[in-house]
Amino acid sequence: MWTVSKGGALRGALRVPGDKSISHRAVMFGAISQGTTEITGFLPGADCKSTIRCFRALGVEIEERAPDHVLVHGHGLQGLREAADVLDVGNSGTTIRLISGLLAGQPFFSVLTGDASIRRRPMDRVTAPLRQMGARINGRQGGRLAPLAIRGTALQPQHYQSPVASAQVKSSILLAGLTCEGQTSVTEPARSRDHTERMLRGFGAEVRVDGLTATVTGRPQLSGQRVQVPGDISSAAFFLVAASIVPGSELLIEGVGINPTRTGLLDALAAMGASITQLNGREEAGEPVADLLVRAADLRATTIAGELIPRLVDEIPVLAVAACYAAGTTYIRNAEELRVKESDRIACMVAELRKLGAEVEELADGMVITGGRPLHGAAVQSYDDHRMAMALAVAGLRAGGELQIHGAEAVDVSFPGFAAALENLRK
Ligand code: S3P
Repeated sequence: MWTVSKGGALRGALRVPGDKSISHRAVMFGAISQGTTEITGFLPGADCKSTIRCFRALGVEIEERAPDHVLVHGHGLQGLREAADVLDVGNSGTTIRLISGLLAGQPFFSVLTGDASIRRRPMDRVTAPLRQMGARINGRQGGRLAPLAIRGTALQPQHYQSPVASAQVKSSILLAGLTCEGQTSVTEPARSRDHTERMLRGFGAEVRVDGLTATVTGRPQLSGQRVQVPGDISSAAFFLVAASIVPGSELLIEGVGINPTRTGLLDALAAMGASITQLNGREEAGEPVADLLVRAADLRATTIAGELIPRLVDEIPVLAVAACYAAGTTYIRNAEELRVKESDRIACMVAELRKLGAEVEELADGMVITGGRPLHGAAVQSYDDHRMAMALAVAGLRAGGELQIHGAEAVDVSFPGFAAALENLRK
């Protein structure tokens, strides 16, 4: 359990840990490339460690020189070997969905499972399109739920029209496409994060992006690269909202990835009247990066919906907290994907914010939050969801009274050291 209470302004400079999506992909693409991939700024969170564990089990040598410095010694797309045991992805949806695509086209058998949350999350969004490529995948409830058993086989390329804007779905299909001759493409209803497309190109694959369609050419020769992982904007999000809502705050968050498919939070906070400035813009590993200077501001309500949703999907719990401290009524719509994240982030966020005294209404696809009511302390729970725990901690920075967060250790999934990083900035 972790106790947070109202305190003074947040001031100073910090770096947030490496981007989770990019860290996963750097290990995966390194594992299927020839030669060594050197990753710096790697996120040593539990999710990315699950990816390392799985690829080691698939025969790839991976050295952890330091928590954020990893070397992956790949032997190409044909260099993976059948694992001797079940592959355990822990809490990581990115690991299980991306690896499924890659393993579907390998000449061996694999079984994938994960924690209780993973075993509740929908896997048919990848197993169904992979089966259309000829994949032989079984799982509980006809392949809807993990554990998944994959009997690797030769796949055929396809064009897949995805019903969801999901980078995990898109990436899973594109990775399956790498294993077969020809072109595999995915069209999505709105653009999801494009780290796979950017990084695969950097490793030597032929990747074309045309509007909402991404296409890969199969059987590329990939070669190991140096990858400098930018700070995770989804982790910076907690500090951006915290400094915005706690009067007198001013923070400089250095080296944050600002890929436009990930910066919906900056757009939403700008619409709410936040004061965030991008400084020192640069590019690292094919990804735009900047330092973000945030100062406290009086926030006003906004509407978060439509194509903005995939660009801030992981930031909605903390945006809901911002909405509690904003003047007026904030509408979050078209966010039904939140129901199938690490927890049902609509139901869980509504339940916990109400315990703090917030005025929140639950919708099938989002929530309606009327800001301005003073929040008070309470005992809340994380539902073993890292982003729930951190969003609730941010709420506690301005709530009157003590906020007790049960299950706060979930933060290790994406941000080991979050509590200490936050405490260091409180003056
Ligand atoms: C991720 C994609 C998103 C995001 C998750 C990481 C990725 O999931 O929520 O935290 O690395 O591809 P969906 O693709 O399911 O939206």
